[in-house]
Amino acid sequence: MFKGLYIHIPFCSQKCPYCDFFSVTSREIDSETYFRALLEEIKIYSNFYSFSLQTVYFGGGTPSLILPHLYESFFNELGKLLDLSSLKEVTIEVNPESYTVEDFKQLREIGFTRVSVGVQSFLDENLGKLGRNHTSQHSLKILENAHKGGFENISVDLIWGLPGQTEEQLRKEFETLKQTPAVHLSAYLLTVYDETPFALLLKEGKLDLPSQERIEALYETLLEETEKLNFKRYEISNFSKREKFKSRHNLLYWKMEPFLGIGAGAWSFDGTKRWANIKNIKLYGEKLLKEKIPPVGDVINLTEKDFKKEAIILGLRTTEGIPLDWVKGRLPEEIIREFFVQKGEKIAFNKRGFLVSNTLLSMLV
Ligand SMILES: C[S@@+](CC[C@H](N)C(=O)[O-])C[C@H]1O[C@@H](n2cnc3c(N)ncnc32)[C@H](O)[C@@H]1O
Ligand code: SF4
Repeated sequence: MFKGLYIHIPFCSQKCPYCDFFSVTSREIDSETYFRALLEEIKIYSNFYSFSLQTVYFGGGTPSLILPHLYESFFNELGKLLDLSSLKEVTIEVNPESYTVEDFKQLREIGFTRVSVGVQSFLDENLGKLGRNHTSQHSLKILENAHKGGFENISVDLIWGLPGQTEEQLRKEFETLKQTPAVHLSAYLLTVYDETPFALLLKEGKLDLPSQERIEALYETLLEETEKLNFKRYEISNFSKREKFKSRHNLLYWKMEPFLGIGAGAWSFDGTKRWANIKNIKLYGEKLLKEKIPPVGDVINLTEKDFKKEAIILGLRTTEGIPLDWVKGRLPEEIIREFFVQKGEKIAFNKRGFLVSNTLLSMLV
């Protein structure tokens, strides 16, 4: 039974040089056609699966390139296909240069409960390094608009570990964050993905990434500053001011609950297998609207062993952690003492553990 619905909006006004999410800048098909294909996809799956949706998440790409009225007609049609009475959280990812107070008001009326804004940095110098086409002023304005439009549950995405970033700069990010209505923070360490322009720059020696020592210093600063603003960490990169502002949708992923991902390039998990849709928007539309078949690309069947491995990796991303016996006896006691914290029958990474989580995970699974 699917508890979460992820909807991928693969359109962007420009491609950022660090990003490897699937999106295109050309309109291979128009938004209306794409949304008709999304509904057709749900219709097909509703014949095979049961749904008890708690969360809906529009991610991208740039979902805020779509005008609110299209979301309104989408939800009207979705309500005819699925029972939406258990919905608790409906999120939209928003880029800083879009949406007015009026747009946010409309989104609230449609049923959206949560806004996640891709701020990335409040310092224009760093936005330049990231090749973004917005400024800090845009971010402050959009956060204000979301708040004025009636949203309480507002999240900010920041990227840290940027080329040349100092602790002082990171502290400045938090000085600005403090002045915004954000109640949730996703703070991602910059990752350089293969085949992105950043990967090429790195190869050519033109991307001056911080050393491990610098990363550790920035990490300490990040934790100090989040604590000062009362953002409590509940996942490796996610912080929330209150229990009720934790991302319910992302918690489904980390707890390995079944979710359906629709849209070009989206991943799904039904409890035993993961599958990805094709990353071709035109073909995605054709498969659904002409052939009436699911536009599935890769499929990965999980064995029991794979399932356990993924449950360990995903569960240890959270501060709630995983059952104690999944770790005890599988790692030396001194490692457990140094990098883990025990909470009743559960075990989770401590502060140092999160920092070296990749190494610890490779020892564990
Ligand atoms: C799916 S992206 C879309 C967000 C939205 N389109 C935007 O750019 O504002 C969600 C978030 O992933 C993070 N992200 C994307 N690429 C990243 C990378 N290479 N390293 C770290 N974080 C990244 C960014 O913080 C971004 O806001
Ligand atoms: S970071 Fe956001 S705006 Fe930039 S390419 Fe990725 S999805 Fe598009």
